[in-house]
Order: sequence, then structure tokens, then C-alpha cells
Amino acid sequence: MLDLSIEPISSLLRARRAGYTLPAGLYTRPDAYEADVEVIFHRHWIAAGVEADVPEPGDVYALDIGRSSIVILRDDDGIVRAFHNVCSHRGAKLLDPGPGTVGRLVCPYHQWVYELSGELMDAPHMGADFDKGLGHLRPVNLRSIGGLLYVCLSDTPPEDIEDLAAVMEPRLAAYDLANAKVAFETDLVEHGNWKLTMENNRECYHCTANHPELCVSFVHYDFGYDPEGLTPDEAEEAKAHAERYATQSADWEAQGFPSSAVERGPGHATNFRTQRLIIAGPGESQTPDGRAASSKLLGGMTRKDTGDVHLWGNNSWNHVMADHAVIFACYPLAAGRTLVRTKWLVHKDAVEGQDYDLETLTAIWKATNDQDAALVARAQAGAESIGYRPGPYSTFTEGTLDDFTTWYVERMTANGY
Ligand code: FES
Ligand code: FE
Repeated sequence: MLDLSIEPISSLLRARRAGYTLPAGLYTRPDAYEADVEVIFHRHWIAAGVEADVPEPGDVYALDIGRSSIVILRDDDGIVRAFHNVCSHRGAKLLDPGPGTVGRLVCPYHQWVYELSGELMDAPHMGADFDKGLGHLRPVNLRSIGGLLYVCLSDTPPEDIEDLAAVMEPRLAAYDLANAKVAFETDLVEHGNWKLTMENNRECYHCTANHPELCVSFVHYDFGYDPEGLTPDEAEEAKAHAERYATQSADWEAQGFPSSAVERGPGHATNFRTQRLIIAGPGESQTPDGRAASSKLLGGMTRKDTGDVHLWGNNSWNHVMADHAVIFACYPLAAGRTLVRTKWLVHKDAVEGQDYDLETLTAIWKATNDQDAALVARAQAGAESIGYRPGPYSTFTEGTLDDFTTWYVERMTANGY
């Protein structure tokens, strides 16, 4: 007889073996998706965008996160704020997702009007005795870290966001991303679970075979290798590469550019990793020829050879270079569907067609995102199959994935699953 009993999510989490991918249901089941939204996306710090999404007072940016929605805005005093995108009257969603510009927030349903501070200004036909103070929009915890915006929808957000801020603010300061401009933005729906999206972007085991464009600027030995599997020539190359890193990192550090690797994995609510990476070839930028795409460098940068400040987090990954930054975040839409949002940032005064060519700026990651989407869909298709069994991560090239799935299981179990 068929056994139709469904294993609880908690059993799947406990069944996960260290060093292996997750049990299939955690990638495929709608209840696992719901649990992830509730725990990871509603109770942890989530990358939500950049200050450059709302450059001027009155600019708004609405973002759906799981089943919830928030609005990020810049108020009349220039302060960036975040609120739940929910009217205080009967709970209608105030704004549709995406950017806009408003004088005040007006609910389309019965026209309650809110100041950009979130204060309720006008509530027609509620009577003279109605206390408008009760109608203030519900704030969402928001942190700008070097111009990158993080939100936490819980009223008790993890405190270790301070650790991320302490590490990243000095690293991002010179780029002044808070005053950059979004030159281009794409939304891509990957046909895979958000955790497969995250696992995929944390390894470059797949890069040589799948990302010809990206590999022009990536240094092959950066992403781990089996030392026993190298030919003598490759071993020499790897050794030279390690020596180059040590010298280059020391040089950058001496010039005031923090470069060392910092990692917060399992054991931390807010996981992240950062390091200043060497860019291959001319060493300037992730472009088709490895040279800067924008002649106007970010912020106060005066040199182009400062590598790539990579940063990944709970739902995001970023590459910050002297001339531009590429900011990625993912948001789960269903068990097998994930929105990947990518933003290309340049200096706010950089002019398209004059200081940069949009195609050159975006070519590498547009191609790479499409290639990654196909890989994630392929991984999801396998996870949906009855033939799927959790598979082993490479200790040389996929240790960071083991950290990610370990972190995920920890966070879920620590939050009641
Ligand atoms: Fe917004 Fe009524 S639900 S004004
Ligand atoms: Fe990739």
C-alpha cells in the first residue's frame, strides 16, 4: 500500500547530513517554502535594495518579501525609511511593487493619506473623535550599511546586523554607494528554490564549464581546488596565485583598502562573507575585457586596480569594484520559483553613452545570470525527481555551501522547526 504520510519539515531538517545537500522536500515542498518565508525572510535581516533606489525625497520603492510587502522611501528630510506596505484602515496594500515618486502615500481604497514619515494625515469620514495617532504606518527595521539596505520584518531583529555593519562600513566607505545611481536593473525568475539559487552563487565549481564571459575576470584558483588533482604546472600556478594574493592584499591594506576575508557562517543569525578579490587580466572590473566600464569611478575612488569587494549574505551577493557595483538579491516566490533582482550601480554623475556604455557595463552579469538560472532550474528538476538523494559537497570547492545549508538548518530549528 502507498504510504501517503507527509514527513514534517522538522524531520527533514533533522535528516540533513553535514556535508550533503538538503533532503528533497526542503527544496520542493510548498510547506517548506512557507516555513522558509516565515523564518528566514520574515525574522532575519534581508537585503532589500540600495539607497540609490530612492535617491530623492518622495521616491518610493515597494518590495514583496514572501507573502508580505514593504515600502522603502526617502522622506522630506532625506531620511530613508521602511514601512509595512499595509494601510492602517482595513489593511489594503498601499503600493504595487516597484519604484515610484509620491508627495504623500494615499491608499487607493478609501484615500487615507500618510506623510512620508508614516504619520496618518487624513482619514476621511472617520469623525472628529478619531485618533489619527493610531493610524501611523507600521515601521520596518531598516539598516543602511554603506548604502546597501537591509530590512527585518520581525519586531525582534537579530542583533548581529551590527557585526555586518562594523565589517562592511569601512570596506564600502570609499565607494559611497549611498550616492550612486542605479544604471540598470533586471528581474529574473529562476525556476528553482531560493536555497538552490543561493547555493549556486556561492560556488564557482560550475564556472569554468558554464560562464565563459565571467571567467575572463575571475581568477580560477580563487574558488578552491583539490591540491592532489593538479598537474605540476597547475600546482606551480596555484602557488604563484596564493603568493600574489598575499602581496596584493598587503598592498591594498597598506593603501587603506580593507581586503582580508571575513566570514560569519553557522552560529550567526546574519551570515555573510566578504573579501577583496583579485580581478583577472587588467584587473579593473567585471567587463568583457576586464577594464573599467565607467570612466567616472564610484564615490571618491581614484584608482581602478582595487579589485572586487565581494559580499554575500542571507539572500544576497554583491561585487563592488572601483567603477561600478553589481548588487543581487533573491526573494522566494514559491517552492520552485525565485526572483533574482540585479542592480548595476555607477557614480551618480556618470552619463550613459558618455562615461559608460550600458552594454559593456551589464554584459557579464546579464549573461551569467541567464546561465545560472538554467543551472538552478536543472538542479530543481533533479530535486523534484524520485531519483534525488542528497549529494556530497566538494570539501575543496563547496565548503561554503555546506556552511549555508548548515546555517539554514540551524536557523530553522532555532525558530521552532
Ligand atoms: Fe486603506 Fe481603507 S484600506 S483607506
Ligand atoms: Fe554561476
